[in-house]
Amino acid sequence: MKTRLTEMLGIKYPIICGGMMRLAYPPLCAAISNAGGLGNLTSAMYKDKAELKAAIQEVRELTDKPFIVNVTLLPGIVHGPEQYRDYFETCAEEKVPAMEIGGTPLNRYEDGKFFKKLKDAGVKLFHKVGAVKHGKHVAAAGYDGIIAAGVEEGGHPLNENVATTVLTPRMVEEVDIPVITTGGMVNGRSLAAALCLGAEGILMATRFINTHECKVHDKIYQEMINRQENDTVLYGNTIGLQGRALVNDSIRKVMEVEARGGGLDEILPLISGQYGDQIWLEGKVDTGLIPVGQSIGLIHDIVSCKELLDRIVTEAEDVLSENKARFE
Ligand SMILES: Cc1cc2nc3c(=O)[nH]c(=O)nc-3n(C[C@H](O)[C@H](O)[C@H](O)COP(=O)(O)O)c2cc1C
Repeated sequence: MKTRLTEMLGIKYPIICGGMMRLAYPPLCAAISNAGGLGNLTSAMYKDKAELKAAIQEVRELTDKPFIVNVTLLPGIVHGPEQYRDYFETCAEEKVPAMEIGGTPLNRYEDGKFFKKLKDAGVKLFHKVGAVKHGKHVAAAGYDGIIAAGVEEGGHPLNENVATTVLTPRMVEEVDIPVITTGGMVNGRSLAAALCLGAEGILMATRFINTHECKVHDKIYQEMINRQENDTVLYGNTIGLQGRALVNDSIRKVMEVEARGGGLDEILPLISGQYGDQIWLEGKVDTGLIPVGQSIGLIHDIVSCKELLDRIVTEAEDVLSENKARFE
């Protein structure tokens, strides 16, 4: 399967893993890249230059294939400008193959100095956006690709709430650089649909949780299989940072506080990532926010990254040829 994405990065399959705080560590990243996709290393888990450098080296010991580093330029994700500087400098020095930026466009951050540095180092830059106007901005700035994130996605969908099925073709109408679609992408049907909508590939996150190489507690794997597409909710609009999370006791509490007009001070402790390890490693599914997408409804098993990616591409090819046959 060849697309502008596979050609640009020299990867086998047009499938990227999205940033996943507390999950996208080197072993998962390398397993996805070894399976033919583009594994993700999420920078916010590393406190400084030395830690991120060591993580990049670990990925490189586990794979000789390309991978992508996520940096989310949002207030509260990392400790401050020094840490961001460390991330960008490290990625430029290490000449990482690609970066997934979220939040503030990198060309606007510190007068675009890191944007230029990374481009000069040959790093392919992708920005994750939820609106066409933002896509047009990053395309004009010289990014290499756009990740169009529909409202179905886990993490922080933009509050314009445009669905993947509309956002992707709208983005493709407006920009010339490759568009990667995300939000609800999970199997071969998703990949086939994304290609039909004009995308050059898909980005998934929630689906990668149920792989053997994503080391989570067995209760999490089971929860991912048991919960359905209507089991997530949007929260955070009252504080200007929308998110999507699995329905559980913690998110019910957040919704209750938001409904009665509780402020940032009351909400922030409830949505902070402090419970991450209890959730993922101890399987406490009612403690803290679990930032998954509606794609959870289409997760039915636990497989290796290789089985997953081979299966998605084979299914996509089958779906596309079955549908072609309908017109013959
Ligand atoms: C557990 C989890 C953690 C995430 N953490 C981040 C993150 O740190 N940075 C980021 O840009 N996106 C993050 N996201 C969002 C994903 O990268 C991606 O945009 C989104 O989940 C895609 O939708 P999907 O989950 O339906 O595939 C996270 C998603 C999940 C499921």
